[in-house]
Amino acid sequence: MPKTTIAFFETTEKEKKYLKKKFDKNFELLFFPEPLNASNAGLISNINIISPFIYSVIDSDVLNKAKRLKLIATRSTGFNQIDIKKAQAKKISVANVPYYGENTVAEHTFALILALSRNLHKAYLRTLRNDFALEGLQGFDLKDKTLGVIGAGSIGVHVIKIAKGFGMKVIAHDPIPNHILAELLDFQYVSLDELLKNSRIITLHCPYNSHTHHLINMENIDKVKKGTFFINTARSGVIEPKALYYAVENNIFGGAGLDVFEGEDLLEEENQMLTKNVAVEHLEALLKKNLLIRKENVIFTPHMAFDSVEAVERIMDTTVDNIRSFLTGKNYHKVI
Ligand code: NAI
Repeated sequence: MPKTTIAFFETTEKEKKYLKKKFDKNFELLFFPEPLNASNAGLISNINIISPFIYSVIDSDVLNKAKRLKLIATRSTGFNQIDIKKAQAKKISVANVPYYGENTVAEHTFALILALSRNLHKAYLRTLRNDFALEGLQGFDLKDKTLGVIGAGSIGVHVIKIAKGFGMKVIAHDPIPNHILAELLDFQYVSLDELLKNSRIITLHCPYNSHTHHLINMENIDKVKKGTFFINTARSGVIEPKALYYAVENNIFGGAGLDVFEGEDLLEEENQMLTKNVAVEHLEALLKKNLLIRKENVIFTPHMAFDSVEAVERIMDTTVDNIRSFLTGKNYHKVI
């Protein structure tokens, strides 16, 4: 029986090693570190399955060169890089990785919350200087404090579950409430204004779009209680930059933990951060310019909330599952 040929594009050595272990001798695997595009489309003329990442451009020219292609299993959530209509016309299926890191981002959210609530960042710097004094490092308990979750979707719900483990009260704002879940996990849905007024810690987990652009802004920032902590692992545009500066300057935000920051528009999806094509220098430059970088109560992390060993492996595992399920006629994450 002829082997199924799979070509993986934009792969690192680590990914190659991991993926090789997942397929047996019935498969012929090809790995290319470069993206697939019109200039190297000849590579896929006899390939059955391709697995690109986001920098490949799989347009009509590329698909015309693919004589035996049956499946495109992208290792990303988005699939803008693929001409879906053309694929459909050529009866080529497309699969993606719709989720891989809800718990991962939720855990990072708590890393930021705990760093701020227990002054870990300050303590770390002090002990490096051989200063072991406790003065100014007193933290506060999370137990019985109110966490306000804006966007109770996949990540938000994980955050709520973790918060419940700490004995926190949780309120959430979401235009599509799930009341059964609220009862099960013991949290309440409230309006945005109520959430801003009543939270000890506010954490953002909604998408960034025209409805959430500057959801927190100069009009509503004064509704927030003085000293409230603010965590953003979603997208920077959900809070108006001016309102963020104003809140930190005026101790409306007593602390802020930011994994995303102003000007980061080039990023379409998180795992882009893992490839060398991403302008890390651009992010560095943005951070250097950010006026909040030197504030004692503001912690920045370089858009790393999604990045755990397990989350990155889940991307590959889902891709492998997509391929196997496609070949055996089972359900997979089908785009078309
Ligand atoms: P999701 O789609 O499962 O949940 C989003 C929730 O936000 C939904 O329940 C939705 O109804 C709600 N929502 C929509 N509009 C809203 C509004 N105006 N106000 C309040 N809630 C609103 O998405 P998921 O997977 O939980 O991800 C959330 C966001 O986290 C992503 O859109 C992305 O921007 C960000 N993210 C950040 C990562 C990082 O590494 N920092 C990694 C992955 C995602």
